[in-house]
Amino acid sequence: MTRFLSSLLVASSLLSSALGVILTDATTIAKDYDFVVIGAGTAGNVIANRLTENPNWKVLVVEAGISNEGLYLVSTPFFGPQASPNKAWTWNYTTVPQTACLNRTMNYQRGKLLGGTSSINYMIYTRGSHDYWDNIANYTGNPTWNWTNIEPYYIKAENWTEPADHHNTTGQFDPSVHGFSGPLSVSLPGSPNELSTRIFNTTLELPDTYPFLEDVGAGNGIGLGWMQATIDVDVRASSAQAYLAPKFIARPNLDVLIEQQVTKILFTKNSKGLPHASGIEFSAGPNQRKFTVSPSKEVILSGGSIGSPHLLMLSGVGDAGELLEQNIDIVFNNPQVGKNLVDHPALANHWIANSTQTLDIYRENATDLTLAEQQYNTTGTGTLVDNVSPAIGFFRIPANESLFEQFTDLTSGPNAGHYEFLWRDGWGSFLPVPAPTVGFFTTITQVMLAPASRGSVTLVSPDPFTFPKVDPGFLTNEYDVQTARYAIKSARAFMNATAWDGYNLGLAFDDAAFQTDEELDLFIRNNTAPIYHPTGTNRMESSAKDDGVVDSFLQVKGVTGLRVVDTSVFPFIIEGHPEAPTYALAERAADVIKSAWQ
Ligand SMILES: *[C@@H]1O[C@H](CO)[C@@H](O)[C@H](O)[C@H]1NC(C)=O
Ligand SMILES: *[C@@H]1O[C@H](CO)[C@@H](O)[C@H](O)[C@H]1NC(C)=O
Ligand SMILES: *[C@@H]1O[C@H](CO)[C@@H](O)[C@H](O)[C@H]1NC(C)=O
Ligand SMILES: *[C@@H]1O[C@H](CO)[C@@H](O)[C@H](O)[C@H]1NC(C)=O
Ligand SMILES: *[C@@H]1O[C@H](CO)[C@@H](O)[C@H](O)[C@H]1NC(C)=O
Ligand SMILES: *[C@@H]1O[C@H](CO)[C@@H](O)[C@H](O)[C@H]1NC(C)=O
Ligand SMILES: *[C@@H]1O[C@H](CO)[C@@H](O)[C@H](O)[C@H]1NC(C)=O
Ligand SMILES: *[C@@H]1O[C@H](CO)[C@@H](O)[C@H](O)[C@H]1NC(C)=O
Ligand SMILES: *[C@@H]1O[C@H](CO)[C@@H](O)[C@H](O)[C@H]1NC(C)=O
Ligand SMILES: *[C@@H]1O[C@H](CO)[C@@H](O)[C@H](O)[C@H]1NC(C)=O
Ligand SMILES: *[C@@H]1O[C@H](CO)[C@@H](O)[C@H](O)[C@H]1NC(C)=O
Ligand SMILES: *[C@@H]1O[C@H](CO)[C@@H](O)[C@H](O)[C@H]1NC(C)=O
Repeated sequence: MTRFLSSLLVASSLLSSALGVILTDATTIAKDYDFVVIGAGTAGNVIANRLTENPNWKVLVVEAGISNEGLYLVSTPFFGPQASPNKAWTWNYTTVPQTACLNRTMNYQRGKLLGGTSSINYMIYTRGSHDYWDNIANYTGNPTWNWTNIEPYYIKAENWTEPADHHNTTGQFDPSVHGFSGPLSVSLPGSPNELSTRIFNTTLELPDTYPFLEDVGAGNGIGLGWMQATIDVDVRASSAQAYLAPKFIARPNLDVLIEQQVTKILFTKNSKGLPHASGIEFSAGPNQRKFTVSPSKEVILSGGSIGSPHLLMLSGVGDAGELLEQNIDIVFNNPQVGKNLVDHPALANHWIANSTQTLDIYRENATDLTLAEQQYNTTGTGTLVDNVSPAIGFFRIPANESLFEQFTDLTSGPNAGHYEFLWRDGWGSFLPVPAPTVGFFTTITQVMLAPASRGSVTLVSPDPFTFPKVDPGFLTNEYDVQTARYAIKSARAFMNATAWDGYNLGLAFDDAAFQTDEELDLFIRNNTAPIYHPTGTNRMESSAKDDGVVDSFLQVKGVTGLRVVDTSVFPFIIEGHPEAPTYALAERAADVIKSAWQ
């Protein structure tokens, strides 16, 4: 337990009945909350922050995990990949054997601390395309979800921040599409190097295939540009660091209770005989004391794409047959809960770099890492200020490719990519394979942005402390294999540009052994890994349609007093990284809730 946490324990017992602090003692919470938010993750803290702008509303957030304060692996951008899995602050889910990936199981971590997964992710900030949001508006029949209406929420959330090296960023982003006074810091790389130059030199050489994009967040995202990341100059900006910052947590009408897991949403019958979410039950762990709290207005569920459907099912909202098998009383039969799980299959391609200065030095040489930490700790500069890649690119597979004779294009539209590249100045992998002990590498991680495969989250036990079964169904649709094959060829063509002459010494490991389509397919099935973007398990659908889990106001269908606000409600997966759209979703949801109660 960190020093910070022990001082909090002291603070909460000293200020036993006071509001406006992070609480660890459940006996000290108030009884008269207007709203209860389940989960202090990416979305939950936005809701808590915005609702407590109204001084007359009292909000309680209940978080299963620990505080984010004082965790060096969490706050240091470079250590993003080391902030998970299997930490004291992660949900250590494991997928079921992925039948289309040679039956491999995969770890499937989520953040279990203040900030949720925004505290352990790679901080990649991508807003998605106009087409993505316009499709959601169309699908839900609610135009307030279209890009025109959502872009202002991105701007509201953002505090565009100077990079750590304070370099001149003219031409590296478009200031007219960014916000400068929101809580959430977003910045460009603060330690660019030779790899960045070669990446951008490739755009000059092959502009038709890999065009330069001045701003990857402007909504017309085909091409590659400078990485935008949720980094506050030199530290991770998470929803906790931003939306629960000292000036917000000090609000007397906001309570955040940590280390208590919500085990059930409690329902009563409303005047029309419909189930009404009247409160929640929570406890610190199995066989620990149970507490309940009942807000006067709403329960807002922000547990994420695994946690939220899990809790709905535990509480009786889900497929009646599956609930009966677990002896759970049915509140509302909705077979869609936990279904439609979609995630991006990702894959790392490796080349040998003719360099002795890639990030591999930190793995090979402890002295180099100590020096980098010393520089970072004392000056807030150097390679540790950045996340995993200096650039990000979104590319389309041409419409005349033969795969589209067999399959429908699943992207949101021409502004959205089929595949993404991230460049690592060194070895990188999502697979639990040992890192090489020697050598210098360049990695392109490819992310398939609009996959066809679907999976599910299902109960295996009525015990809230038993993980549900998580099955992303990776590559179960052949379309995803064929698009991944295209992306591998594209990554190899990218590294073949003359911009890499004298630097790229060829494919690393045995990657070069995979050339024919059949060989590449085996490579794909053996190397695909999750990038941890689970989406869609409480899909939003028009209230006019008898489908989906929430309506376009994010109210859970079939019950009252309960909304879901998190990545689980997106009906499609973003062609990018879900963090930024989840902030925009939550910012808009806060306004929806405010207007419902004004
Ligand atoms: C995840 O694994 C870590 C390390 O073993 C452990 O401390 C933590 O409690 C686990 N998290 C959960 C939710 O079980
Ligand atoms: C995966 O497991 C299933 C069920 O055990 C088995 O039928 C199948 O042959 C396995 N596939 C591979 C590629 O090992
Ligand atoms: C909305 O979806 C329908 C059906 O898929 C399609 O015909 C229509 O063109 C879409 N409208 C917009 C504005 O995208
Ligand atoms: C977005 O919705 C607004 C109404 O809120 C509408 O005026 C506008 O035309 C829509 N934009 C698009 C691109 O559909
Ligand atoms: C930054 O660079 C741009 C164009 O390269 C130049 O016009 C501008 O004056 C520079 N700004 C500063 C503060 O040096
Ligand atoms: C934006 O971030 C910078 C750098 O951390 C900070 O100095 C500034 O106060 C922030 N602005 C707002 C509005 O929070
Ligand atoms: C990038 O291209 C410029 C202009 O052709 C060239 O001067 C520079 O050396 C290139 N940088 C690298 C790292 O190859
Ligand atoms: C490790 O890094 C230090 C500092 O850069 C350097 O002096 C030393 O020679 C390196 N050791 C090896 C074995 O390369
Ligand atoms: C840098 O700071 C962290 C957190 O205080 C500490 O754990 C680490 O040892 C420091 N590293 C060095 C090289 O001083
Ligand atoms: C790489 O370039 C060589 C020489 O121009 C060419 O023969 C080869 O087909 C290229 N490979 C790819 C994957 O583009
Ligand atoms: C590696 O780079 C050095 C210069 O940095 C160059 O002299 C050498 O030719 C390169 N090696 C290869 C095999 O391209
Ligand atoms: C899959 O990759 C691992 C290395 O990660 C390798 O040992 C194994 O042989 C590969 N299996 C196949 C079927 O290619």
